[in-house]
Amino acid sequence: MKIIIGCDHGGYDLKLEIISRLEKEGHSVVDVGCPDRNPVDYPDVAADLCHRLLDEKEDFGILICGTGIGISIAANKIDGIRAAHLSDAYSASMAKAHNNANVITLGARTLGVELAWTIVKAYMDSSFLGGVHQTRVEKIAALEKEDK
Ligand code: RB5
Repeated sequence: MKIIIGCDHGGYDLKLEIISRLEKEGHSVVDVGCPDRNPVDYPDVAADLCHRLLDEKEDFGILICGTGIGISIAANKIDGIRAAHLSDAYSASMAKAHNNANVITLGARTLGVELAWTIVKAYMDSSFLGGVHQTRVEKIAALEKEDK
């Protein structure tokens, strides 16, 4: 898979670990920063990653901040992004199967590395089920348009 990943300073260390594990499994990873532990604003990283994902069509995006919350709120402001903030493997699987999430967000200060990796794997091992879930995802997109 081709995966795009980004973080703020709070997510930097976890991002490196996730990149290393993804690459070990043969996936291609595009890292949009941040490049070190110096403070950055998570909405900037979210916007950059999401716009690139929509343009370049990587398979999905991973965003990491301290809690995963702010970066998820920011990502979901962007038309076409369905970002799921995840803290367990079942939700990770459902985020793909039911919601066709194209971005997952993780909290580096709330998850250990092993749990974070389990979540990433559960999402990647899952498939969108379509059918009624497609209808619901289309209704989410319609809400975005309606609200403009
Ligand atoms: C940065 O200190 C922190 O606020 C950020 O990483 C994130 O947790 C926001 O939701």
